[in-house]
Amino acid sequence: MRLSMEPLAVIETYYSRDSFLYKVLVEHSCRVAEKSLEIARNLTHLAIDLEFIEAAAMLHDIGIFMTRAPSIGCTGEFPYICHGYLGRQLLDDQELDPAFGLVAERHTGVGITLENIVQANLPLPKRDMVPLSLEEKIICCADKYFSKSPKNRDKIMTPQLIIEELAKINTGHAARFAEWVEELHL
Ligand SMILES: [Fe+2]
Repeated sequence: MRLSMEPLAVIETYYSRDSFLYKVLVEHSCRVAEKSLEIARNLTHLAIDLEFIEAAAMLHDIGIFMTRAPSIGCTGEFPYICHGYLGRQLLDDQELDPAFGLVAERHTGVGITLENIVQANLPLPKRDMVPLSLEEKIICCADKYFSKSPKNRDKIMTPQLIIEELAKINTGHAARFAEWVEELHL
């Protein structure tokens, strides 16, 4: 089991450095890593492992190349919603600490419950994919501030805007994010 590694080296196992998708992924992941560190540093009383936060944030979206999202250069076969659990498989294949894979699997949306998966018949393995650890929650939240789509890339998100956007999709999701706003002092 590998506990520490160079995240870019792991990314480069699957992405060619001169591809458009590599640029999209690394730019987004750096933004999420910075935001995650900012959130974690504000929670000084909790002594969060910043090295883990940074590396896990850099790797949370590693599964996107396996999905189909042409606007950001993904030409894989799976629906985009699958990139979290697919990322977990890749990180587990790399024999990283399983905590890295769990961050990837649990970051999509504000986590996806087993009930969500069953009710909406989502193309996902039937298990709860909701952030549980503090690190999983921090990276999931940080991700919500940054879009990868060229249209929304420069949109500046606030916790209130994120809650409003989530409420349009699912009030339960908006409520979960609102709880984390309190818990993580966002
Ligand atoms: Fe993602």
